[in-house]
Amino acid sequence: MRVIIQDDYQKMSLWAANYIAEKINAHKEDRPFVLGLPTGSSPIGVYQELIKMNKAGKVSFANVVTFNMDEYVGLPHEHDQSYWYFMHDNFFDHLVDMKAENINILDGMTDDPEGECKRYEEKIASYGGIDLFMGGIGVDGHLAFNEPFTSLTSRTGVRDLTTDTRIVNSRFFGNDPEKVPSQALSVGIGTVTDAKEVLVLISGHNKARAMAAVVEGNVSQKWTCSALQMHNAAIIACDEAACGELMVDTYKYFLDIERKERI
Ligand code: GLP
Repeated sequence: MRVIIQDDYQKMSLWAANYIAEKINAHKEDRPFVLGLPTGSSPIGVYQELIKMNKAGKVSFANVVTFNMDEYVGLPHEHDQSYWYFMHDNFFDHLVDMKAENINILDGMTDDPEGECKRYEEKIASYGGIDLFMGGIGVDGHLAFNEPFTSLTSRTGVRDLTTDTRIVNSRFFGNDPEKVPSQALSVGIGTVTDAKEVLVLISGHNKARAMAAVVEGNVSQKWTCSALQMHNAAIIACDEAACGELMVDTYKYFLDIERKERI
């Protein structure tokens, strides 16, 4: 696993955006570049940098197909907290050459959730899998909506949200956890780790415990993001604040080995 430590959120975002743009630009195959994407506050800076690069002609999304990680059950597209709305509002609507038909987001309003999740997995497979899956994590280490004790081999499916996650996400729902949907459709940990590369963003003091668990802890379903340790091309891009619970030696090791990546 690589851990790229930057001074702050802005530099973490710039580094990750540059990395993604380089991967898209280096993709010379006929088939599209397949990019997995998250929502949340962690990726907003990356989206802003990618939008700038796209408008400046430095990266094109014309040959990019995207698959989002997750979606709340029961929120229609036009609900401003649906992940469909978030992705269009924060990213897709600002790109000059993203094709609507290349955007894939699980349908949280479907009356056949199991079928929807099965079709999602099949569609990912039809493109030859995901080239690069970007993600964020929750304070309890959840990746997508794979809460603690979700199987590390899980596939796309319906997930119950923990009370803790509903409390954390209630900041977007008038601070009322009851207004946060109790279920979501989510890719599985196995779906994420099947990607050729995984890039996870970890920012802020409130993620420091999860960061230490992913980097230094055991591979465990208690911290579902720890499955990244078993991936042969996983990168964590983080800021200094997220490193607060790492051992000094761990922190120094990654600063040293990745010193060329420091912005
Ligand atoms: C939600 C999403 C996750 C996301 C997490 C962290 O629970 N399902 O995919 O990583 O929030 O969000 P934030 O980046 O806002 O801390």
